[in-house]
Parts: sequence; structure tokens; C-alpha cells
Amino acid sequence: MIGRKKKQQAVQVPAAERGQNAVRDVPRPEPQRTVTRFGHGSRVPGWDDAADLTKDPAEIPDPATTPVDAALRAEIEAHMAKYPDFRSAAIPALAAAQRHHGWCSPEAIEQAACIMRLTPGYLSAVATFYDMLETQPVGKHRVYICTNISCSLCGADELMARMLQEVGDDPDFNVRSFECLGACDIAPMASVNDIYVGPVSLEDVPVLVEQIRAGTPPLPGKQLHLRRCVDPGAAS
Ligand code: FES
Repeated sequence: MIGRKKKQQAVQVPAAERGQNAVRDVPRPEPQRTVTRFGHGSRVPGWDDAADLTKDPAEIPDPATTPVDAALRAEIEAHMAKYPDFRSAAIPALAAAQRHHGWCSPEAIEQAACIMRLTPGYLSAVATFYDMLETQPVGKHRVYICTNISCSLCGADELMARMLQEVGDDPDFNVRSFECLGACDIAPMASVNDIYVGPVSLEDVPVLVEQIRAGTPPLPGKQLHLRRCVDPGAAS
């Protein structure tokens, strides 16, 4: 019922204020904000693009004409060695190629396919399915703002708009919305270059962007992995 006018709800009154089992109707304020669902392009891009049937079937790239950086080759081969079926290494191989090239460019996919002895089309199908594999050029700083339900109810849409405004057209930033990042208890939250921070306020945004640009830790006081926990080794 998000975004719709709600009926007034009965609220349980604390025992000290009520008689035995008494329930009093207390009016709650009307919700003012409409939460946009999927309005930020947070769905996986390209999921409804049809295959181009006019293209020739792809071939496995020839190692003789496909130069690959030695470190990238070693990393992908190490991933392939971990699995009974080497194709299970498709995701880590693409992630390695993405780290090396900045994104899953046609060249990156070609090189990974050459090492894995697969067609580029096979790996493209994987790269276009998983939305942390980028098939378009992106900025090097990854800022993923969760806009799923818990975070949206806590102001993620405003946070997203404020972040986009602060970053402007800086090509070093890859700011995007994300479906639940699994840290709803710190909503609204964001993943900043793989570090979870939250709750992120609108006032935090200029500070956060400055820290990212300076290469310093993002919002140190709000990093999830530094929170106190029953596990004494968690913060280390
Ligand atoms: S809804 Fe944002 S982390 Fe779960």
C-alpha cells in the first residue's frame, strides 16, 4: 500500500496509560511521501534486449591474435582450476577482466573468452545478466545506493537524488541504485567501493563525496563492519 492513502490505524497504548486490555484509537500522521519503485533504473539493464540474429555465430578467440596481460591470464586460470567444470569460473573471470579493464568491454570479454576457450557470446550472456558486471564504461568509484523497500521508506530516493546532484557529471563516479544490499538495519544505506555505510543522511552526502574523491575511508563512524558486534573478531 505504499504511496496510497492509509486508513487511520489503532495503536497499542502502553500498559501504564491504559486499563486492562484497553486499546485507544490514536490518529497517526498521514504518510506524505510516495516511494518510487524501479523509477531509478535499478533493474538489470538489457534484460529485455533481444538477441541479434543477424550476426554470425561467434568463434572462440585465437590465442595467437588475442594478446592478454600475463597477470590477468594467471588470475583467470587460477579461477578455472578451482572448479570441476571450468565454465563455473565465468563470473570470477569476468570480474577479474573488469578489474583489469575498468569494465567488461568487448576487449575484456574477448580476452577472458580466449583464456577460457569459450565464445565471447557465452561470457556476454553472463556479463549482461549480473548487474555488478558492467557492460558499459563506468566511473571507478562505485556508489551503490539501496532503493529497496526498507531504505526507500527511510529516504533512499531523496538520498539518491542528493548524491547525483553532489557528484554532478564527474566521470570518476558510478552512482546507481540497487535492490536490497542486505543491510536493512542501517537504512538508508550505500555501498561505497564495497564498504557498507549507513544510515546515510542528506547532510552526510557532501562529506562522503569529498572523502571518496580524496581516497580516504568513507564515513568511518557509519561503516557497518566497524560496528560493535558479539563477535569479538568482527571489527578486525
Ligand atoms: S532495503 Fe536497503 S539494505 Fe535492504
